[in-house]
Amino acid sequence: MIRGYKAARTMRIDILTLFPEIALAPLGESIIKRAQAAGIVEIHAHNIRDWATDKHRRTDDTLCGGGQGMLMLPGPIFDAIEALRRPESKVVLMTPQGRVFKQAVARELSQETHLILLCGHYEGVDHRVIEQLVDLELSIGDYVLTNGAIAAAVVTDAIVRLLPGALGDERSHQDESFSDPNLLEAPAYTRPTNFRGMKVPDVLISGHHAKIEAWKKEQALERTRRNRPDLLGGG
Ligand code: ADE
Repeated sequence: MIRGYKAARTMRIDILTLFPEIALAPLGESIIKRAQAAGIVEIHAHNIRDWATDKHRRTDDTLCGGGQGMLMLPGPIFDAIEALRRPESKVVLMTPQGRVFKQAVARELSQETHLILLCGHYEGVDHRVIEQLVDLELSIGDYVLTNGAIAAAVVTDAIVRLLPGALGDERSHQDESFSDPNLLEAPAYTRPTNFRGMKVPDVLISGHHAKIEAWKKEQALERTRRNRPDLLGGG
């Protein structure tokens, strides 16, 4: 964070969930906490149950046509989104059925001024919510979480750190994995140069910048081949 940084514009993120504390806990520390304090982003989490209308404050019901589990009712979600939405809002549903969240999607969403992140629970949400209210269905990966609030925190973190002024050193965006979406980062070392007999590669302490760059490129490629051959088109 740049000291005394004044945000040119503030992004607003509203998280709609049955578990506001789960969504907010990881966003209340470190870089994201400071980004909020500096006025770079405003993050709010709301309990969907606050828009429930019956005396039991129900937010779910059984599936029409039968099937396992419960589905979130459309009523409280429509009321919540209609209360929070502005003309420029983008409504994103966190769901394992969504488009897969990648750095490129984080970059796209970091250009928005207002995001409403709707978190599913149980078997998901009534499909009329998706048809009428949702601009984008987003999954953070091919696995199923207990609820979307965890996914919303992940997505919020990845977006907020891209906002101007959120990271101290703006260059740190450039080097990292996924800036070149087809290559992971090279291994990195710090001091001591000899730790329990394990030595930092000689080239990195040679002071020879061209050689260091060539080494990093080769190592990045090797790491990508080993851990993420899919990025190189190898599957
Ligand atoms: N809710 C449950 N699993 C999820 C996932 N993988 N991504 C986004 N939201 C989810």
